[in-house]
Amino acid sequence: MLIAGNWKMNTDLSKARTLAAGVRKAAESAGEVEVLVCPPFISLDAVCQVMRGSAVQVGGQTLYPEDSGAFTGEVSAPMLRSVGCSHVIVGHSERRQLFGETDEDVNTRLLQARLHDLVPILCVGETLQQRKAGNQRTVVEEQLTAALANVDIAEADDLVVAYEPVWAIGTGETASPEQAQAMHAFIRSRLTDRLGQSVGAGVAILYGGSMKPHNADELLSQDDVDGGLIGGASLKASDFGAIINVATGYTA
Ligand code: PGA
Repeated sequence: MLIAGNWKMNTDLSKARTLAAGVRKAAESAGEVEVLVCPPFISLDAVCQVMRGSAVQVGGQTLYPEDSGAFTGEVSAPMLRSVGCSHVIVGHSERRQLFGETDEDVNTRLLQARLHDLVPILCVGETLQQRKAGNQRTVVEEQLTAALANVDIAEADDLVVAYEPVWAIGTGETASPEQAQAMHAFIRSRLTDRLGQSVGAGVAILYGGSMKPHNADELLSQDDVDGGLIGGASLKASDFGAIINVATGYTA
Protein backbone atom coordinates (compact mmCIF):
# COMPACT_ATOMS: atom_id res chain seq x y z
CA MET A 1 0.00 0.00 0.00
CA LEU A 2 1.18 3.49 -0.89
CA ILE A 3 -0.63 6.55 0.43
CA ALA A 4 0.50 9.66 -1.43
CA GLY A 5 -0.53 13.26 -0.81
CA ASN A 6 -0.61 15.75 -3.67
CA TRP A 7 -0.63 19.17 -2.06
CA LYS A 8 -1.01 20.89 -5.46
CA MET A 9 -0.59 24.71 -5.26
CA ASN A 10 -1.41 24.89 -1.55
CA THR A 11 0.62 25.77 1.55
CA ASP A 12 3.23 28.50 1.86
CA LEU A 13 6.58 27.60 3.39
CA SER A 14 5.47 27.89 6.98
CA LYS A 15 2.23 25.95 6.44
CA ALA A 16 4.14 23.30 4.51
CA ARG A 17 6.52 22.78 7.45
CA THR A 18 3.61 22.48 9.88
CA LEU A 19 1.69 20.06 7.65
CA ALA A 20 4.84 18.00 7.07
CA ALA A 21 5.42 17.71 10.80
CA GLY A 22 1.82 16.57 11.26
CA VAL A 23 2.16 13.95 8.51
CA ARG A 24 5.44 12.73 9.96
CA LYS A 25 3.70 12.19 13.29
CA ALA A 26 0.63 10.57 11.72
CA ALA A 27 2.89 8.22 9.74
CA GLU A 28 4.59 6.87 12.86
CA SER A 29 1.96 4.14 13.04
CA ALA A 30 1.95 3.49 9.27
CA GLY A 31 3.68 0.12 9.65
CA GLU A 32 4.09 -1.43 6.20
CA VAL A 33 2.20 1.38 4.44
CA GLU A 34 4.47 3.60 2.35
CA VAL A 35 3.73 7.29 2.86
CA LEU A 36 4.63 10.01 0.36
CA VAL A 37 3.94 13.74 0.20
CA CYS A 38 4.26 15.94 -2.89
CA PRO A 39 4.46 19.60 -1.79
CA PRO A 40 4.93 22.62 -4.07
CA PHE A 41 8.50 23.00 -5.42
CA ILE A 42 9.19 25.97 -3.15
CA SER A 43 8.74 23.83 -0.03
CA LEU A 44 10.38 20.58 -1.17
CA ASP A 45 13.70 21.22 0.54
CA ALA A 46 12.07 22.22 3.83
CA VAL A 47 9.68 19.27 3.78
CA CYS A 48 12.54 16.86 3.01
CA GLN A 49 14.31 18.24 6.08
CA VAL A 50 11.24 17.76 8.27
CA MET A 51 10.92 14.15 7.04
CA ARG A 52 14.60 13.29 7.48
CA GLY A 53 15.02 10.26 9.75
CA SER A 54 11.42 9.15 9.17
CA ALA A 55 10.05 6.73 6.58
CA VAL A 56 7.96 9.41 4.86
CA GLN A 57 9.08 9.99 1.28
CA VAL A 58 8.86 13.21 -0.68
CA GLY A 59 8.09 13.75 -4.36
CA GLY A 60 7.70 16.50 -6.95
CA GLN A 61 4.38 17.28 -8.64
CA THR A 62 5.91 17.43 -12.11
CA LEU A 63 9.31 17.86 -13.78
CA TYR A 64 10.77 19.21 -17.01
CA PRO A 65 12.37 16.61 -19.29
CA GLU A 66 15.84 18.23 -19.50
CA ASP A 67 18.62 18.21 -16.91
CA SER A 68 19.25 21.98 -16.96
CA GLY A 69 19.23 24.97 -19.30
CA ALA A 70 17.17 27.90 -20.51
CA PHE A 71 13.72 26.71 -19.45
CA THR A 72 12.42 29.58 -17.35
CA GLY A 73 10.22 28.50 -14.49
CA GLU A 74 10.84 24.76 -14.85
CA VAL A 75 12.36 22.24 -12.44
CA SER A 76 14.47 19.25 -13.47
CA ALA A 77 14.85 15.68 -12.23
CA PRO A 78 18.41 16.28 -10.92
CA MET A 79 17.06 19.27 -8.95
CA LEU A 80 14.35 17.10 -7.40
CA ARG A 81 16.97 14.48 -6.55
CA SER A 82 19.28 17.08 -5.04
CA VAL A 83 16.79 18.03 -2.33
CA GLY A 84 15.96 14.41 -1.52
CA CYS A 85 12.92 13.52 -3.64
CA SER A 86 12.31 9.86 -4.40
CA HIS A 87 9.17 10.19 -6.56
CA VAL A 88 7.58 12.52 -9.08
CA ILE A 89 4.02 12.76 -10.37
CA VAL A 90 3.76 12.75 -14.17
CA GLY A 91 0.75 13.46 -16.34
CA HIS A 92 -1.62 14.67 -13.64
CA SER A 93 -4.89 15.63 -15.32
CA GLU A 94 -4.42 19.25 -14.22
CA ARG A 95 -1.07 19.33 -16.07
CA ARG A 96 -2.76 17.80 -19.10
CA GLN A 97 -5.84 20.05 -19.05
CA LEU A 98 -4.52 23.38 -17.76
CA PHE A 99 -0.94 23.31 -19.05
CA GLY A 100 -1.41 21.43 -22.29
CA GLU A 101 0.76 18.39 -21.55
CA THR A 102 0.25 15.80 -24.25
CA ASP A 103 0.66 12.02 -23.99
CA GLU A 104 4.05 12.51 -25.66
CA ASP A 105 5.09 15.08 -23.03
CA VAL A 106 4.04 12.64 -20.32
CA ASN A 107 6.21 9.95 -21.92
CA THR A 108 9.32 12.15 -22.08
CA ARG A 109 8.82 13.16 -18.45
CA LEU A 110 8.40 9.57 -17.36
CA LEU A 111 11.58 8.52 -19.19
CA GLN A 112 13.46 11.45 -17.66
CA ALA A 113 12.27 10.48 -14.17
CA ARG A 114 13.48 6.91 -14.73
CA LEU A 115 16.82 8.13 -16.00
CA HIS A 116 17.39 9.94 -12.71
CA ASP A 117 16.09 7.22 -10.41
CA LEU A 118 12.90 8.99 -9.51
CA VAL A 119 9.87 6.74 -9.20
CA PRO A 120 7.24 8.11 -11.61
CA ILE A 121 3.63 8.20 -10.49
CA LEU A 122 1.89 8.08 -13.84
CA CYS A 123 -1.63 9.54 -13.74
CA VAL A 124 -4.28 8.36 -16.15
CA GLY A 125 -8.03 8.86 -16.21
CA GLU A 126 -11.01 9.81 -18.31
CA THR A 127 -13.22 12.90 -18.27
CA LEU A 128 -16.93 12.77 -17.47
CA GLN A 129 -17.76 13.18 -21.14
CA GLN A 130 -15.53 10.26 -22.06
CA ARG A 131 -17.11 8.06 -19.38
CA LYS A 132 -20.63 9.03 -20.44
CA ALA A 133 -19.74 8.01 -23.98
CA GLY A 134 -18.45 4.67 -22.64
CA ASN A 135 -14.91 5.43 -23.80
CA GLN A 136 -13.11 5.24 -20.45
CA ARG A 137 -11.14 2.09 -21.24
CA THR A 138 -10.02 3.27 -24.65
CA VAL A 139 -8.88 6.59 -23.19
CA VAL A 140 -6.97 5.03 -20.31
CA GLU A 141 -5.41 2.41 -22.57
CA GLU A 142 -4.21 5.09 -24.98
CA GLN A 143 -2.76 7.15 -22.14
CA LEU A 144 -0.95 4.11 -20.74
CA THR A 145 0.42 2.96 -24.08
CA ALA A 146 1.70 6.43 -24.96
CA ALA A 147 3.22 7.07 -21.55
CA LEU A 148 5.05 3.75 -21.52
CA ALA A 149 6.54 4.02 -25.01
CA ASN A 150 10.24 3.13 -24.96
CA VAL A 151 10.13 2.24 -21.27
CA ASP A 152 12.52 -0.58 -20.55
CA ILE A 153 10.73 -3.43 -18.78
CA ALA A 154 13.65 -3.87 -16.39
CA GLU A 155 13.23 -0.23 -15.40
CA ALA A 156 9.50 -0.48 -14.80
CA ASP A 157 9.38 -2.65 -11.71
CA ASP A 158 8.89 0.22 -9.28
CA LEU A 159 6.54 2.19 -11.54
CA VAL A 160 3.39 3.56 -9.89
CA VAL A 161 0.19 4.21 -11.85
CA ALA A 162 -2.60 6.38 -10.44
CA TYR A 163 -6.09 5.98 -11.86
CA GLU A 164 -7.73 9.36 -11.41
CA PRO A 165 -11.10 9.78 -13.11
CA VAL A 166 -11.09 13.50 -13.92
CA TRP A 167 -14.74 13.83 -12.90
CA ALA A 168 -13.86 12.71 -9.37
CA ILE A 169 -10.94 15.08 -8.76
CA GLY A 170 -11.75 17.82 -6.27
CA THR A 171 -15.48 17.35 -6.89
CA GLY A 172 -16.40 15.33 -3.82
CA GLU A 173 -17.66 12.67 -6.21
CA THR A 174 -15.75 9.38 -6.11
CA ALA A 175 -15.75 6.42 -8.40
CA SER A 176 -17.75 3.63 -6.80
CA PRO A 177 -15.60 0.80 -5.45
CA GLU A 178 -16.87 -1.34 -8.35
CA GLN A 179 -15.94 1.28 -10.95
CA ALA A 180 -12.51 1.68 -9.37
CA GLN A 181 -11.85 -2.07 -9.19
CA ALA A 182 -13.02 -2.63 -12.77
CA MET A 183 -10.67 0.05 -14.11
CA HIS A 184 -7.77 -1.03 -11.90
CA ALA A 185 -8.14 -4.63 -13.10
CA PHE A 186 -8.19 -3.37 -16.69
CA ILE A 187 -5.05 -1.29 -16.09
CA ARG A 188 -3.41 -4.32 -14.48
CA SER A 189 -4.18 -6.45 -17.55
CA ARG A 190 -2.75 -3.83 -19.88
CA LEU A 191 0.38 -3.55 -17.72
CA THR A 192 0.96 -7.29 -17.69
CA ASP A 193 0.51 -7.37 -21.48
CA ARG A 194 3.05 -4.59 -21.88
CA LEU A 195 5.53 -5.45 -19.13
CA GLY A 196 5.05 -9.16 -18.59
CA GLN A 197 3.29 -10.97 -15.78
CA SER A 198 5.80 -10.52 -12.97
CA VAL A 199 6.57 -6.81 -13.52
CA GLY A 200 2.96 -5.89 -14.39
CA ALA A 201 1.60 -7.67 -11.34
CA GLY A 202 4.00 -5.75 -9.11
CA VAL A 203 3.11 -2.23 -10.31
CA ALA A 204 1.24 -0.32 -7.59
CA ILE A 205 -2.03 1.10 -8.93
CA LEU A 206 -3.35 3.97 -6.81
CA TYR A 207 -6.85 5.39 -6.88
CA GLY A 208 -7.20 9.19 -6.88
CA GLY A 209 -10.26 11.41 -6.88
CA SER A 210 -11.95 12.63 -3.70
CA MET A 211 -10.56 9.87 -1.49
CA LYS A 212 -11.44 10.87 2.08
CA PRO A 213 -11.32 9.16 5.49
CA HIS A 214 -14.99 8.12 5.15
CA ASN A 215 -14.66 6.39 1.77
CA ALA A 216 -11.04 5.18 1.94
CA ASP A 217 -11.98 1.77 3.26
CA GLU A 218 -14.38 0.80 0.47
CA LEU A 219 -11.81 1.88 -2.14
CA LEU A 220 -8.65 0.47 -0.55
CA SER A 221 -10.33 -2.86 0.11
CA GLN A 222 -10.59 -3.56 -3.64
CA ASP A 223 -8.21 -6.26 -4.94
CA ASP A 224 -6.38 -4.11 -7.48
CA VAL A 225 -6.32 -0.87 -5.48
CA ASP A 226 -2.84 -0.61 -4.00
CA GLY A 227 -3.16 2.80 -2.40
CA GLY A 228 -4.35 6.34 -2.96
CA LEU A 229 -3.24 9.63 -4.49
CA ILE A 230 -4.96 12.17 -2.31
CA GLY A 231 -5.44 15.87 -2.98
CA GLY A 232 -7.84 17.76 -0.71
CA ALA A 233 -7.69 15.34 2.21
CA SER A 234 -3.88 15.40 2.22
CA LEU A 235 -3.93 19.03 3.36
CA LYS A 236 -5.09 18.10 6.85
CA ALA A 237 -2.69 15.83 8.72
CA SER A 238 -5.54 14.27 10.70
CA ASP A 239 -7.50 13.33 7.54
CA PHE A 240 -4.39 12.07 5.77
CA GLY A 241 -3.43 10.15 8.90
CA ALA A 242 -6.90 8.60 9.05
CA ILE A 243 -6.49 7.33 5.46
CA ILE A 244 -3.03 5.94 6.28
CA ASN A 245 -4.65 4.20 9.20
CA VAL A 246 -7.28 2.57 6.96
CA ALA A 247 -4.50 1.41 4.60
CA THR A 248 -2.67 -0.37 7.41
CA GLY A 249 -5.59 -2.82 7.44
CA TYR A 250 -4.72 -3.95 3.92
CA THR A 251 -1.00 -4.59 4.10
CA ALA A 252 0.01 -8.16 3.45
P1 PGA B 1 -8.63 15.16 -4.73
O1 PGA B 1 -7.37 15.22 -5.71
O2 PGA B 1 -8.35 14.11 -3.68
O3 PGA B 1 -8.73 16.54 -4.13
O4 PGA B 1 -9.82 14.80 -5.55
C1 PGA B 1 -6.73 14.04 -6.15
C2 PGA B 1 -5.64 14.39 -7.14
O5 PGA B 1 -5.87 15.23 -8.01
O6 PGA B 1 -4.52 13.84 -7.09
